[in-house]
Amino acid sequence: MSLTFTLDPPITPALRDGVLELWTDVSNAGGSVGFVPPVTREDIRPELVKHMVAMAEGRTRLLVGHDAEGRVAATAFLTFNTHRLMTHWLWLYTVMVHPRHQGKGYGRDLLAAAERAARGIDGIEAIRLTCRGGLGLERFYASCGYKEVGRVPDAIRVAPGDDRDDITMLLPLT
Ligand SMILES: CC(C)(COP(=O)(O)OP(=O)(O)OC[C@H]1O[C@@H](n2cnc3c(N)ncnc32)[C@H](O)[C@@H]1OP(=O)(O)O)[C@@H](O)C(=O)NCCC(=O)NCCS
Repeated sequence: MSLTFTLDPPITPALRDGVLELWTDVSNAGGSVGFVPPVTREDIRPELVKHMVAMAEGRTRLLVGHDAEGRVAATAFLTFNTHRLMTHWLWLYTVMVHPRHQGKGYGRDLLAAAERAARGIDGIEAIRLTCRGGLGLERFYASCGYKEVGRVPDAIRVAPGDDRDDITMLLPLT
């Protein structure tokens, strides 16, 4: 069984609700996608709306993975730079696999699909992303070919007294 990946899927209510549910479930399972648990869909919705506005404006593209039941099971957002001197690489944001599907290789499949998508975009020469320290995520990205190129100590405060490094990972495509 594998996920079916689609770049730029039609934005239907089902897709929007599926991404919202995925993002909420991943956050509540402790995933580092911008929130700390507990969260509700309503906490997440404004962030999703920001992504959707960026999609409508052509600044972001959604890569979505559906499972065999047709449920939204994974996402990554490919976001272009607006800075005129940085248009030759893009950001990967909100990389997540639903907790029920984690540990089956789908994360690696998602990163491979994101790499294929980025390679298919004219002029894009690298993918950059950040991740939260203390969870081993840099090892996951390293297993997908990314290299750690920066680390800001204690930049992410997940709770009082619990600060995590903000780690920058880079995948050159040339
Ligand atoms: C991180 C995430 C996308 C990985 O997806 P996944 O489907 O669970 O990962 P895979 O099954 O493809 O694993 C690929 C490899 O990475 C490793 N890996 C996965 N998650 C890891 C983690 N958190 N820490 C260390 N290694 C990890 C796996 O062990 C595997 O290595 P192996 O083949 O040598 O065994 C997924 O766990 C997730 O959505 N987590 C919550 C959200 C999150 O934190 N996203 C990161 C945002 S920066």
